[in-house]
Amino acid sequence: MGISLGLVGLGSFGSAFARLFKSHPQVDRIGLCDREPERIARFAEDPFFQDKFKPSDAYASLDEILKSDLDALAIITQHWLHTPQAVQAMGAGKHVYSAVPLLSVPDGDEILDWCDKLVDTVRRTGLRYMYGETTYYRPSAMYCRRRAAEGGFGDFVHAEGEYLHAFDSPGCDLREVSRQRLAGAAGAEWSEKLKGYRRRGIQDGPMHYPTHSTSGPICVMNAHMSRVCAWGYRNRTGEPYFREGQPDPAGRFSNETAHFLMSNGATCLIREYREIGNPGNEGFRIFGTQGCYRDGTWFDKNGWAPLTAEQMRDPLPDQVLKAFAGADPGVYGGHGGSHAYLVHEFVDAVAGDRMPAITAWDAVRYTAAGVMAHKSALADGEMLAVPDWGDPPGR
Ligand SMILES: NC(=O)c1ccc[n+]([C@@H]2O[C@H](COP(=O)([O-])OP(=O)(O)OC[C@H]3O[C@@H](n4cnc5c(N)ncnc54)[C@H](O)[C@@H]3O)[C@@H](O)[C@H]2O)c1
Repeated sequence: MGISLGLVGLGSFGSAFARLFKSHPQVDRIGLCDREPERIARFAEDPFFQDKFKPSDAYASLDEILKSDLDALAIITQHWLHTPQAVQAMGAGKHVYSAVPLLSVPDGDEILDWCDKLVDTVRRTGLRYMYGETTYYRPSAMYCRRRAAEGGFGDFVHAEGEYLHAFDSPGCDLREVSRQRLAGAAGAEWSEKLKGYRRRGIQDGPMHYPTHSTSGPICVMNAHMSRVCAWGYRNRTGEPYFREGQPDPAGRFSNETAHFLMSNGATCLIREYREIGNPGNEGFRIFGTQGCYRDGTWFDKNGWAPLTAEQMRDPLPDQVLKAFAGADPGVYGGHGGSHAYLVHEFVDAVAGDRMPAITAWDAVRYTAAGVMAHKSALADGEMLAVPDWGDPPGR
């Protein structure tokens, strides 16, 4: 028997997952939930959803869907809501898939508090929680995890990870994304709350959305960040995107660069840049004593071998691939084909009552690294310890 699953947040990113979740062969029933009714209607009225969706499974808010008997929720709401909502949902007995970031708010201590609450809730409830980190299922990450498992890297020496997303990227302008996320009921509430951070003099920064850059090195090396020194680059053009809502009239850092020492003794350089001559890039490089991975190529003493995405990907079950082919013309979905893997991994873990691949313990590692990097950048590179919540049970 399959599972029942509710989609909470049907904005631009949630919409990209709706057809995949609905198509998964182990999903029997789909619920739709958003505070903006027209976002539900788009799917509720789509013939593609009719075999698994009933009008009684349309919900006007998270509070409402939590009263349903659905087994699991995929929470793809705005970036300041994910973990408080995930904790609330697990409190109501639901398994949770959460979009990234864990939580992005200006106050790093608040983010660390939610890291604590998240791990505690998963441990206490025993429910399945999965963090929807797209980088984890990019072909390069799957390939490097396999290489690491067979010892191909030797000892890890150094890694680099980056998320470069120019604020004025023609493909995805962050000013427009911000306008869209602030539209609607949830956005209006957040605009009010933001004023409170400003009054308290709290300065935001790009390392508060660190997860695409940190997750590659962390998941491949199966190690975590232990110490950090970081610095920031401050916007010099007066661009309002980096000044609005900030207590310092000079604005926040548009770019932050952090150097970490890791628990395995390797070093790691992480770049989170929002003002950069590169419209968008998520990636990593890993250097070991026996083998290295960079730019889609494996290097070792035998030479080097460029790899295709197909060579790097893990296989998905045939029946899942077939089902997804009807849902999405690209089969795997966006962000390097990671969407299909994320959906399958969560559904299969809930249906099979097992721990999903990307746990709460992983999510807090990806996140705390960024929080401490931002604190270090604000303190002109002071070396700081990065907190850790340990390995997931059974790993
Ligand atoms: N690579 C990635 O992993 C990646 C890429 C893009 C976006 N994201 C993340 O996805 C999230 C969503 O982004 P988006 O652009 O779709 O945002 P969005 O604003 O378009 O959509 C969010 C939706 O959540 C709904 N919502 C908020 N609170 C709710 C509640 N209590 N009950 C029901 N619905 C509620 C809103 O009404 C809205 O429709 C963001 O946090 C973003 O960081 C991740």
